[in-house]
Amino acid sequence: MDIFIKATPQDVATHAADVMAEYVRNGQTIGLATGSTPLLMYRELIARFQAKELSFKDCTAFLLDEYIGLPREHEQSYYRFIRDNFTSHIDIDDAKVHSPNGLAEDVHAEGPAYDAAIEAAGGIACQLVGVGANGHIGFNEPACSLNSGTRVETLHPKTIADNARFFDDDESQVPVHVLTQGLGTISRAGHVLLIATGAAKARAVKALIEGPLSAFCPASVLQLHNHATVIIDEEAAQLLEYSDYYRFCADNRV
Ligand code: GLP
Repeated sequence: MDIFIKATPQDVATHAADVMAEYVRNGQTIGLATGSTPLLMYRELIARFQAKELSFKDCTAFLLDEYIGLPREHEQSYYRFIRDNFTSHIDIDDAKVHSPNGLAEDVHAEGPAYDAAIEAAGGIACQLVGVGANGHIGFNEPACSLNSGTRVETLHPKTIADNARFFDDDESQVPVHVLTQGLGTISRAGHVLLIATGAAKARAVKALIEGPLSAFCPASVLQLHNHATVIIDEEAAQLLEYSDYYRFCADNRV
């Protein structure tokens, strides 16, 4: 893992945007994540597009996950989230922004179909992920298969509680079921870029970098990936035992 500890969330966003921009410049397929953490990075990429430094017109994008049962127009559907916060502000072709269909008649068939669509697009060159406070990536909750494909997942009560803030602080409005790229799907991306900021993520960050490889912390699957980059701020890094070593590596890259 390449680990970068940055002073502020904005520094995390700028560095993550630099990583993504390389793939965008080459018109490659990118994987997008929702959540509040990537918003600064999306703002940074939008600014680069507006400054005519970057064009997304040759890119294809795949989202990580989607709530089951929310129509696309719903404010909290991830389909809508990514368009409102990112893709409607850049020049990517909307038809090339894919997300799992949370209203599919057969939601269990949707997962394999989504994985097939990713494969047909040549795979994801760079997949962005955030991390949940319990170590989930996408919506892969603790104890899921480390090799899972895109599929239906049941949210952990902690995730429902964390995400209630987007649903008028009402947990009963948060869908219990979701479609998520699996850990196997995420692992097939050529490069996985994980970003995390804030003290609430410190335990998950410690577990994913320094804990054992374990389905109990789904993000620890990145320990098996041969091109994983983790960019975090000081607050999220505060529990790391070897943070000095990670800084040393970052300062002495060859
Ligand atoms: C949701 C998403 C994840 C995201 C996580 C953390 O559960 N499915 O992809 O990483 O939230 O979100 P935030 O960045 O808002 O803390």
